[in-house]
Amino acid sequence: MSFVLSRRRFLASSVPVLSASLIRPAWSTATPSKLPIPALVDGTSGEPVDLQIRRGEWSFKPGVKTATLGISQDYLGPTIRTQQNSELNLRYQNTLTEGVAIHGHGLHVPGKVDGGPQLEMAPGDQWQPRLSIVQPAATCWYHSHTHGKTGDQVYRGLAGLIIIDDDEADSMDLPRQYGIDDLPVIIQDRTFDAEGRLVYSLNDADEDGWLGETVVINGAIAPVATVPAGKVRLRILNGANARFYIVAFADNRTFYKIASDGGLLAAPVPMTTMEMSPGERCEIIVDVSDGNAAELLTLFEDEFDEAEGGIVNNLLDLLGRSETPPLQPSLTLRVDRSLRAHTAPLLEKLATIARPNESEITRTRDFVLAMGDGGGHGTHGGHAAMDMTINGAAMDMNVINERVQRGVWERWRIRSDQGAHPFHVHGCSFLIEQMEGAAAPPDQRGWKDTVVLDDDDWSEIVVRFDHPATEQYPYMYHCHILEHEDRGMMGQFTVS
Ligand code: C2O
Ligand code: CU
Ligand code: CU
Repeated sequence: MSFVLSRRRFLASSVPVLSASLIRPAWSTATPSKLPIPALVDGTSGEPVDLQIRRGEWSFKPGVKTATLGISQDYLGPTIRTQQNSELNLRYQNTLTEGVAIHGHGLHVPGKVDGGPQLEMAPGDQWQPRLSIVQPAATCWYHSHTHGKTGDQVYRGLAGLIIIDDDEADSMDLPRQYGIDDLPVIIQDRTFDAEGRLVYSLNDADEDGWLGETVVINGAIAPVATVPAGKVRLRILNGANARFYIVAFADNRTFYKIASDGGLLAAPVPMTTMEMSPGERCEIIVDVSDGNAAELLTLFEDEFDEAEGGIVNNLLDLLGRSETPPLQPSLTLRVDRSLRAHTAPLLEKLATIARPNESEITRTRDFVLAMGDGGGHGTHGGHAAMDMTINGAAMDMNVINERVQRGVWERWRIRSDQGAHPFHVHGCSFLIEQMEGAAAPPDQRGWKDTVVLDDDDWSEIVVRFDHPATEQYPYMYHCHILEHEDRGMMGQFTVS
C-alpha cells in the first residue's frame, strides 16, 4: 500500500524533522510497562452495566501521577462486550462537577439513546440508555460528546471500547481471547509538562487541532504485551483528538486488515502500512508464530506529508530493510510460546457486504467543511479566532441542519475547503464510494462511520438510517478532529 503524499495540511511546513518521540533512544534502561488491558464487562445479561464517570489519577510516565478522568477506572473505561440481537443496558453516573454527555460511536441506535450533546448529564445525574443491538459484529467505542468540551474530556480519559459479537463472526475461526490474542489498542497522543502532568487547552490548539507529542497506547508509553506464538488480533482505535497515524510494523511485516469501523470486511486485506484518522477503528491480524517480537509503529502522518520526498523515502527505505529501523515502537508484542496460540490459517472470506443498487439511492446531499478566520461567533469552545463550519453554518444546538427519511439510501458527498478532515456520521454504518476523488481502496470497502476528506476532492458515501432521531434528540455529523468539532464543525439531523 502507498503512503498518502498529497494531503495538504493546514499550516506551512517547517523544516521536516522527525519528532524525538519517534526515534528509538540509543540506550534505554527503563523497564517497559505492560500494556494496560481495560477490564472486560459482559453486557449480554441484560443487567445494567454500571459506568461511573469519575476523576482519576494515572501515571503515563513512571512515578508521576497526573489528574485524569475515567469511567469506572482511573483513565479510559472498561471494554463493554455485547451481542447482536441482545439488549445492552448501560447506567452512567456522572460524579464530576461538570456536565458530561457520552456517545456510543458506531452504534445503530435511536437518537434518544445515542448520547449526543443534547443528552448531557448534569453533575450528580444518572443516565440509563437501553440499547437494542441489531447491527453485526464490530469494534465500536464510547466517549464524551459534551457540547464544546468533547476534546478536553476525551483527552483527560473519557473513552472506552464496545465490542459487538454476532453468531456469524462467532462461528469464524478468529483469535478471540480478550487480552491474550485479541487485544484492544487505543492509540492516543498526549503532551506533558515538565512535571509529567497532562497539558491541554482548546484555545491554544492551532488549526490542526491538539496534537500531542507522545503516543500512549491504552494510556501507557511504549508498552509491551505478551502474546502467544500465533495469529494475534489487534482491535485498533485511533482515539487521538486530532492526529492521523500511519500504522506499520518496524520489520515491515505484512498484516491483514479484517475489519473497519462497522465490522468485518469481505475478505482480509494484506497491508504493510495503514492510515488511521481520529475516530476510526481497524481490526488487524498479525502473525507472530516465528517467535520474533512485533513492534508496532504509529507514525505521525503530518510529518510524513510535510517531508514530501525526504523523510517518506527514507522511511520507506528503512521499513523496507530487514534490520530494525531506529524508530520508537508504540507497542511491542513479545512472544511467549507457553501460551495457547491461534494457528489456524487465515480465513479467505469474512462478511458479505451488500451494496445498494444505484436505483435505490434516492437523494444526494452535499457537505462542505470549511475553516475561516472570519467573524468568530465566540460561542464554539470560546475560540473566537476560528470559524469552523459545515455548509457555512457552525454547530448550533437549536438548529436542525438536515432532515433525513428513515430506511432510504442516500448519497452524501463531502468535501473540504481546506485541510484533511475525518467526517463522522452518527446512527449508521455507511459504504464509501469515493475517497478523496478516487475509488475507495479495498480496505475501505467495508462498513464505515468515518471517512477522510482532503481539500478539493469529494469523498462520497452511500448511507441509510434505520432508526429514528427526533428534533429533541437528533443525530450529529461532524469532523472527528475534536477541536474542530468543539469549534463548530458539526451539524444536527433528524431521521423520521
Ligand atoms: Cu465519535 Cu459524534 O462522535
Ligand atoms: Cu459517533
Ligand atoms: Cu476537521
